[in-house]
Amino acid sequence: MKKANMLLDKEFVIGKIDNRIYGSFIEHLGRAVYNGIYEPGHASADEDGFRQDVMDLVKALKVPIIRYPGGNFVSGYNWEDGIGPLELRPKKLDLAWRTLETNEIGINEFAKWSKKVDAEVMMAVNLGTRGIAEACNLLEYCNHPQGTYYSDLRIKHGYLEPYKIKTWCLGNEMDGPWQIGHKTPMEYGRLALETGKAMKLIDPTIELVSCGSSNTAMPTFPEWEATTLEHTYDVADFISLHQYYGNRDNDTSNFLALSMDMDNFIQTVISTCDYVKAKKRSKKTINLSFDEWNVWFHSNASDDDTMKNNPWQKAPALLEDAYTFEDALLVGCMLITFIKHADRVKMACLAQLVNVIAPIMTENNGGAWKQTIFYPYLHASLYGRGIALNPIITTPKYDAKDFTDVPYLEATAVYNEENQEVTIFAVNRDLEEDMLLACDFRSFKDYELIEHLVLACNDLKAYNTLENQPVIPSNKGRSKVDHGRLETVLGKASWNVIRLGTQKK
Ligand code: AHR
Repeated sequence: MKKANMLLDKEFVIGKIDNRIYGSFIEHLGRAVYNGIYEPGHASADEDGFRQDVMDLVKALKVPIIRYPGGNFVSGYNWEDGIGPLELRPKKLDLAWRTLETNEIGINEFAKWSKKVDAEVMMAVNLGTRGIAEACNLLEYCNHPQGTYYSDLRIKHGYLEPYKIKTWCLGNEMDGPWQIGHKTPMEYGRLALETGKAMKLIDPTIELVSCGSSNTAMPTFPEWEATTLEHTYDVADFISLHQYYGNRDNDTSNFLALSMDMDNFIQTVISTCDYVKAKKRSKKTINLSFDEWNVWFHSNASDDDTMKNNPWQKAPALLEDAYTFEDALLVGCMLITFIKHADRVKMACLAQLVNVIAPIMTENNGGAWKQTIFYPYLHASLYGRGIALNPIITTPKYDAKDFTDVPYLEATAVYNEENQEVTIFAVNRDLEEDMLLACDFRSFKDYELIEHLVLACNDLKAYNTLENQPVIPSNKGRSKVDHGRLETVLGKASWNVIRLGTQKK
């Protein structure tokens, strides 16, 4: 059995974790909104048509913030189409996904749903087909208390209280040629600066996210970040990062190493932000909003076919990836990567939340179930709050097709001072062998084992359906604690959550 060691100390601090790294995303896309969160005829629908079975699953995840309404969708969206009396709302072509948008759900309904699931809204504005005026009007509609055209319009629509939405994205993936209204970095930088400047005049309490690159393979990365930030640095608070991975070559050892690419992406964006900071002699630090991330590749071919050959449907099945067990392992590694960068990654959104590349799936008129990736996301959201620690780890390594020195053990630890708990998150990337991990955590006096949760499965390609759930966690992890030392066996190819605390359960 391979062996790894870990030294954990209270004093080895990376930084306070911003709970918003456990955010998610709902786009007007496929069955995310219609027949996802909203299905008025469903047996579990509440008085507003929202599925309560879905809300219960979202609430279980304790999702702190949800990005809305896109995504690519936002770059062609007229937010005014989704407000006011339902019968007057226009049906429109959504050019991003070539579907029919009925506008039954708009800003007010989404804000209502978010409140029901205890999440904040992260709102994106359209900088594709629209600009400064429309973004300002939307902000006035949402956040201004009363006495102006748009705030009074909101009140007229039945929403007296302003939403006080704090976080706003200045467009979406504006570097991507697929984006409606795609821009050069100069064009985007200028527009984002002027839009952000005007928005902060309306509400100086908001935080703004400047668009970064759509992924590491973009030819304009990282020049896009450097050029756009030269414009937006003073007005922006965050820069966005997006990244999706897939096991396209069916090479799992290489696939599981992809979080190293994500780590490198984060480090490069931090360096670029700090380069612009130095160039501008600025005292301000820009933080990172990794506001789209996940595994996404299973559904690519069928989606291309639907969009090309069967366009303009209402809520077709799009991006409905059925997530395998190995996908959940990579999602676990990606979550660990965020925790390791807790000092600069302050927001992140698992893309997406329901039906569309999602941890939660539904059947129209039927049940809802948890995909494999639901579990690492759940565990990190529940137990990954507090202070990110920097454990000193020694681990055996391997070489994969695209990466050298891949640690077999991917791990991090979080200290929750309030609950007097420390949680170790660990993935054993070894597909053949279990691993023995010895951890010295003696600075946490009198801490004992609470539980060791494990997600493991003999079949890397197993996935969950409504009827059959082969990938579910157990609390039967093999851990022993004795006087500040933990000895644990991390099963081959497994996600582990080892909870230590002063309250033995
Ligand atoms: O999340 C799906 C899509 O991925 C989003 O609409 C877009 O921003 C990204 O390319």
